[in-house]
Amino acid sequence: MKIVIAITGASGAIYPRELLNFLRPSSHEISVVLTDNAQIIWKDELGELFNSEGLKLFGNKDFKAPFASGSAKYDQMVILPCSMGTLGRIAHGISNDLITRTADVFLKEKRKLILVPRDTPYHLIHVENMRLLMLAGATIIPATPSFYSKPKTVTEVANTVISRVLDQMGIGNDLMKRYEGFEI
Ligand SMILES: Cc1cc2nc3c(=O)[nH]c(=O)nc-3n(C[C@H](O)[C@H](O)[C@H](O)COP(=O)(O)O)c2cc1C
Repeated sequence: MKIVIAITGASGAIYPRELLNFLRPSSHEISVVLTDNAQIIWKDELGELFNSEGLKLFGNKDFKAPFASGSAKYDQMVILPCSMGTLGRIAHGISNDLITRTADVFLKEKRKLILVPRDTPYHLIHVENMRLLMLAGATIIPATPSFYSKPKTVTEVANTVISRVLDQMGIGNDLMKRYEGFEI
């Protein structure tokens, strides 16, 4: 598949790091776009600069990127984490950078668009924006970890979210132990 991964300035840089570490060795073509705020938060939370090895990296103002046009054949876009600012702009058709334009394209072309918002608590505008996006065909996966797999490290906690993102992308993975029920 040809996949676009967008990284915005919400907390949770560990999520795209783990997703990209999983996807890098695969045969999928991975294009990545980061907002300015995403780069700052990546450095702050992970203590390292973004590593673009094995990826196609595009600037967020680069409207020459092929996936900015619906005529280029791409399969999926994941925005991870998705700030409420970016989410709101997409929900209202404000396509003023490469990420929001690409999301606009994926919605109009009826392609898979997954947004992974991270904020808490939500206010009504957040909820209404998510509702609008779902009506337009997007998939919303809140960055909400689960604990029934008994994760032992921060990375394992993050992978409980990434595993569900990959599930929605239709990409097999064993990043977390699957729920099998339990005895009381
Ligand atoms: C340290 C830090 C953490 C942030 N965490 C979040 C967050 O979890 N969720 C969110 O929606 N915005 C968060 N923000 C705010 C966004 O970065 C801000 O709204 C920004 O304008 C988003 O721009 P972008 O979507 O272009 O990256 C955070 C900002 C900072 C500085």
